[in-house]
Amino acid sequence: MIEFILNNKPVKTDQPSGSLLLDFVRYEQSLIGTKIGCREGDCGACTVLIGELIDGKLNYRQVTSCLTPLGNVQGKHVVTIEGLNMESLSPVQQFMVDESGSQCGFCTTGFVVSLTQFCLANSTPSYKDAIASIDGNICRCTGYKPIERAAKHITESLTDKDQNETLDWLISQKFIPSYFNQIPEMLNALPKGNHDSQNGTLMGGGTDLYVQKLDQLIDQDVDLILNTHGINNIEVKNDSCTLGAGSTATDLLESDIFSSAFPRLKKHIKLVASSPIRNMATIGGNFANASPIGDFTAFFLALNAKIKLTNKDQNRTIYLKDFYKGYKDLDKSTDEIVSTISFKLPTQDSHFNFEKVSKRIHLDIASVNTAIQISISENEITQTHLSAGGVGPIPLYLRETCDFLLGKTLSPETVQSANEILQSEINPISDVRGSADYKRLLLRQLFYAHFITLFPHQFTLNSLK
Ligand SMILES: Cc1cc2nc3c(=O)[nH]c(=O)nc-3n(C[C@H](O)[C@H](O)[C@H](O)COP(=O)(O)OP(=O)(O)OC[C@H]3O[C@@H](n4cnc5c(N)ncnc54)[C@H](O)[C@@H]3O)c2cc1C
Ligand code: FES
Ligand code: FES
Repeated sequence: MIEFILNNKPVKTDQPSGSLLLDFVRYEQSLIGTKIGCREGDCGACTVLIGELIDGKLNYRQVTSCLTPLGNVQGKHVVTIEGLNMESLSPVQQFMVDESGSQCGFCTTGFVVSLTQFCLANSTPSYKDAIASIDGNICRCTGYKPIERAAKHITESLTDKDQNETLDWLISQKFIPSYFNQIPEMLNALPKGNHDSQNGTLMGGGTDLYVQKLDQLIDQDVDLILNTHGINNIEVKNDSCTLGAGSTATDLLESDIFSSAFPRLKKHIKLVASSPIRNMATIGGNFANASPIGDFTAFFLALNAKIKLTNKDQNRTIYLKDFYKGYKDLDKSTDEIVSTISFKLPTQDSHFNFEKVSKRIHLDIASVNTAIQISISENEITQTHLSAGGVGPIPLYLRETCDFLLGKTLSPETVQSANEILQSEINPISDVRGSADYKRLLLRQLFYAHFITLFPHQFTLNSLK
């Protein structure tokens, strides 16, 4: 049985844990305000909120219900557009009306849900964040300017929001219905979500699996990573950081440990997917789907991360760079899961950067991506870890280029010579994301971009040609 709160009432269902939240709300509960567009996480028409108690405080994130396994909402609060409706329109709904932000209306419920998540966030409201909250919502009628104006008014209307009592303030200003006050108590009354292993398909956020194997999964019980205790902890011991493989992209984005270790983290992570996908996509899922262009794979390869592989009998730890044996071929048996990821935190001498080029900036996978961690002492390179995606059948750790850079003086000449080694280590193919030659050129430019970004006084576009 899966139990959760749906809008203002507890529900209990014996639907399989791999069935979709979208189908449950529409077909089992007749809540048809949640729309079906692409069923692939791209359009945001199916957006709902998922709330959970974290340290006693309600935290809501928007997700695409078309990629959410029902099992992942065990013990949580699911809010559809119907759960936001009151006798009169909320300010979010009213500003959408006032600014003509709704034309055919198909996308509107998704936009309203995402903008309500922006109101619920425990942070100082800014117009930039309001727009970021709808980065996973597409309007086919292209009414973006009116929606942006509505987002601006919504931000302004939150000026007096009480950060400490966000929920009470939003209820008093009629942004959300008053039943939200009872949700903590209702959630506490639910059984906690620790599913036993079902020996079904192993599932993290489902953002890859449902795009590829929807029909095979929706009638099955699946083995849910997110309900395993401790699988999304992020902690530091001595100089090492360990995170559960069930940590999502948003968990990283909101982690104080990650923000202080990686000053450009926000910029880097915002290049990955969209807010609703990042709210679901796990780091373990990114590694294990073995995509040659996985963004987090490139990121953690450059941290020289280790992964712990666990089955019921034993644990073993290997370097992430040794995980990939060939196209979609992993050093992992079928009963092993990636349970944790660990890496040494950057020191004062080390510098980290991630670069990605895709056909469009948001909600697109990379044509080519790369990350670097480089340590410098008195202008000498003392350590480098460099990764590249989209230029071979697996995510690449560029060993020869790293070896070449070791002990060299940091200079444009060194970097240009290193590019020659790098070019010999890659083997891109021509496909819809570009020709092989284009990808070679792209990686060269991104490799140079690492140095221009990290050492702007020593490297310019002109010094690297
Ligand atoms: C609209 C959209 C945009 C996207 N954009 C990007 C993007 O910009 N960059 C990017 O890199 N990816 C992108 N993705 C792909 C996807 O979101 C990521 O790869 C994500 O990290 C996958 O994680 P998940 O938890 O959803 O994986 P799932 O779909 O749950 O699982 C993926 C695979 O990994 C296995 N698995 C999951 N967790 C583990 C574990 N702990 N141990 C062992 N095996 C495991 C599963 O069995 C499955 O085979 C996008 C996807 C969508 C739908
Ligand atoms: S239906 Fe398009 S994102 Fe879910
Ligand atoms: S109003 Fe028609 S799709 Fe957005």
